[in-house]
Amino acid sequence: MVTGDRSVNALVTGGAGFIGRHVVSRLLNDGATVRVVDDLSRASADGLQEFSGCPGYLGLIQGDVANRTTLGDNLAGVDTIFHLAASVAVGTSVSAPAEGARTNVLGTLNVLEAARGADLRIVLVSTCHVYGSAEKPLDEKATTRPVSPYAASKLAADDLAIGYEHAFQLRQTIVRPFNVYGPWQRDDLEGGVVARFIRSALIQQPIELHGTGLQTRDFIFVEDAAHGIVAAAADRAIAQTINLATGVETSIEDLAHIVDGGTGNVRHVAHPHGRSEVERYVGDASVAAELLDWSAKTPLSDGIDRTRQWFEERMVF
Ligand SMILES: NC(=O)c1ccc[n+]([C@@H]2O[C@H](COP(=O)([O-])OP(=O)(O)OC[C@H]3O[C@@H](n4cnc5c(N)ncnc54)[C@H](O)[C@@H]3O)[C@@H](O)[C@H]2O)c1
Repeated sequence: MVTGDRSVNALVTGGAGFIGRHVVSRLLNDGATVRVVDDLSRASADGLQEFSGCPGYLGLIQGDVANRTTLGDNLAGVDTIFHLAASVAVGTSVSAPAEGARTNVLGTLNVLEAARGADLRIVLVSTCHVYGSAEKPLDEKATTRPVSPYAASKLAADDLAIGYEHAFQLRQTIVRPFNVYGPWQRDDLEGGVVARFIRSALIQQPIELHGTGLQTRDFIFVEDAAHGIVAAAADRAIAQTINLATGVETSIEDLAHIVDGGTGNVRHVAHPHGRSEVERYVGDASVAAELLDWSAKTPLSDGIDRTRQWFEERMVF
């Protein structure tokens, strides 16, 4: 089995979650063996069921990464950790900052310690939220400026990984996806904006725009993001920080109109955490192109169609 430039026996933290499940799928398709650690706090095990017959799938361990013993007990045969487990909702991080920081900072510290102890390769999934608002496409040297406890805790996790690389020669790569959307994303307030908008459109409720709707995002289809995360395990990506972005900037208002197909069933509501809103996100993924031969393949309209179809097949009306 080959991922990037070598064989992979993977442990995926947060593998029952939205992106994690697609990372598991991609790894299995590439011929890797995969074990998942997830505490199921933000996901169910349903998304992993279809892998149960795959020879490479070694199952789910339900455990909390912030608990120091969770990983240490489950690393036999593993050579690479893809660390995605996180408390990801910006709104929740504003209302309960300590809870998210425990997973995102202490959990990452535990994952790094486990990787150090067993001399494992680690791909740490960070986020574009560590950057400030974009004046031009954000590359990896852009200023970091977290405006929510979520973003701050993810940046702290990145810094821990870099510290471990310097102090212990830990073989780490930080991957920073921009806004990921697609099948299996949560469609509630803790989920993604694309999933929320699709749900509203399908049940014929108004799509709610938080604030002006003029804020912009760089939307990546989840299969493209998973491909980039898996590719980042290549040895040439060690000690690198790599954006995964499309370079296409779309306002939330435009996204609403794409999703609702021009019916106009859109309304503005007060932003629930306006001080932690970022005006513009658009990324520069030149490093991913050069190092990983990666680029986002799925145009937004196609990705939205595929996501809508997935929700239509599963939603109970
Ligand atoms: N969704 C996006 O747009 C996006 C963009 C950039 C980066 N990311 C990053 O990608 C990763 C995955 O995000 P996602 O969108 O799939 O979110 P998600 O909530 O669907 O997945 C996170 C998973 O981690 C698990 N988890 C949470 N706390 C845990 C803990 N203490 N121990 C073990 N498991 C725990 C959850 O149950 C969940 O399955 C996160 O690190 C996030 O910061 C997400």
